[in-house]
Amino acid sequence: MKTPLVAGNWKMNGTRADALRLARGIYHGMKNLHRVEVVLAPPFTALATVAGVTTKSKIRLAAQNVHWEESGAFTGEISPKMLKESGCQYVIIGHSERRQLFLESDLMVARKILAALNTGLLPILCVGETLHERQNGKMRQVISRQLRAALKGVGENAIDKITIAYEPIWAIGTGHHATADQVRQAHRWIRHCLHQLFGKNKVMENRILYGGSVRPENTVELARVSEVNGLLVGGASLKAIDFLSIIRDFAEVKAGVV
Ligand code: PGA
Repeated sequence: MKTPLVAGNWKMNGTRADALRLARGIYHGMKNLHRVEVVLAPPFTALATVAGVTTKSKIRLAAQNVHWEESGAFTGEISPKMLKESGCQYVIIGHSERRQLFLESDLMVARKILAALNTGLLPILCVGETLHERQNGKMRQVISRQLRAALKGVGENAIDKITIAYEPIWAIGTGHHATADQVRQAHRWIRHCLHQLFGKNKVMENRILYGGSVRPENTVELARVSEVNGLLVGGASLKAIDFLSIIRDFAEVKAGVV
């Protein structure tokens, strides 16, 4: 398995000055943190600013969204090439807020994945069920549909570039994270779907992150789930001290220190 990954999704928060402060705080706090890959996903307008801090470090930069075309009449959209130029290595694709609030379909997600890969960006593909779907016993069905659709055009040789984030929608921004058992089951299912789609050997290294109300207080519990290879953190990534505590705890549990 690759190094654990902890990503901070800043969503639509902060000015460029805030982003600079936060990125610097994380950069300085990370000096003694090893064996963990850290990814920051600021808003588009702060990408270049944050890149100014991250290029000197091991921290990686991600965008929160991307369009699938290279250029053209797509008012308000940003192309993969533009993200590369702004310093991004990663891009979050198919976040539930994009799917629910901006009506992104599975097909759009699939196009974005391919466009990102073709440009050399590493996708973080988000999947996850609503509360209604979970209560109706549809978690597995929803996740396998999302994975199948999103990864449809991805070849065997490109699947290793993809990170999956399991983000149950009912846990995002609610303060109620999924229990260790719920996370374990969903992550096992995701791994199983990947095996079916690409064969066991091709997906051994793919990281599966958990996201949804990750906080300093629940990081150790989540990190102890061996199927969890990283975290996608929203609200708690906006405070350097909290995010650093999450990174440290996660890395230590995975390294067997605690
Ligand atoms: P949250 O968001 O940590 O604020 O629940 C997670 C996410 O949306 O990626």
